[in-house]
Amino acid sequence: MRHLMNPLDFSVEELEKLFDLANDIENNPAKYAHACDGKILATCFYEPSTRTRLSFESAMLRLGGQVLGFSEATSSSAAKGESVSDTIRVVSCYADICAMRHPKEGAPMVAASKSKIPVINAGDGGHQHPTQTLTDLLTIRTKKGQLGNCTIGLCGDLKFGRTVHSLINALVRYENVRFILISPEELRIPSYLRDKLTDMGVEFQEVIKLEDVMPELDLLYMTRVQKERFFNEEDYVRLKDFYVLNKQKMENAKEDMLVLHPLPRVNEISVEVDNDPRAVYFDQAQYGVYVRMALILTLLESAKN
Ligand code: CP
Repeated sequence: MRHLMNPLDFSVEELEKLFDLANDIENNPAKYAHACDGKILATCFYEPSTRTRLSFESAMLRLGGQVLGFSEATSSSAAKGESVSDTIRVVSCYADICAMRHPKEGAPMVAASKSKIPVINAGDGGHQHPTQTLTDLLTIRTKKGQLGNCTIGLCGDLKFGRTVHSLINALVRYENVRFILISPEELRIPSYLRDKLTDMGVEFQEVIKLEDVMPELDLLYMTRVQKERFFNEEDYVRLKDFYVLNKQKMENAKEDMLVLHPLPRVNEISVEVDNDPRAVYFDQAQYGVYVRMALILTLLESAKN
């Protein structure tokens, strides 16, 4: 039985198969409408979510399965002090697969070690968000025709942004990917990631100004400065509007550059950019359903063996 904790849990070849399956689901939804008849997905969310929880639930419902779960810790027995280990043992009796989001890094991993059903990390603190990465990779592969051979700019909160950490980890496995890491000094990538890029000989540069690098980018991955990860309000207020992508900045970008964002957006992309054909952040939300459908099918299959 397999779990998904980290995008690297799947080899590049396995990811290709997963994305092929997701594209087939997109093109032939009726073929999969009863693939999970009789199966139940539990969504155990100890942190707020719109996209991840609802896209998982949509994915299972579109596969013919059913869903149960909780959307905040206070409506579960975590509020009475129950551990994640005990919770997953109980949830294993009620469901066939579980997607878990938790503010503590490693909590879904602890759950997986005690679980009788596949557990999917739906975001753990500032650590990883592997299903967002699957969504991002599927979007890039579908829109660009390949993963690799690109310059990607990651912009915003690169320190706490788990979507950024997961995406960098995943993209270093593809040929000829160059990273431009755009952040204020205080929100630079963690040193373990910088060391990893250096050790692997991956080309990267760290810059502060987005305008300076716009013309070089094939992909621009914008992120929100996350209020919930700051220890004091003053730092958050100072940094929250550090980057605002607008029409004027887009004028300096390549004609086929894609703008991605895991969402939710606050102010970092002006709404005037939404109608630019290069803006694909709402398409990402749709691909998130297809890739989660493919993931549920793949992990349930692994649980049979
Ligand atoms: N992208 C993402 O994880 O969004 P939610 O927090 O709404 O799930």
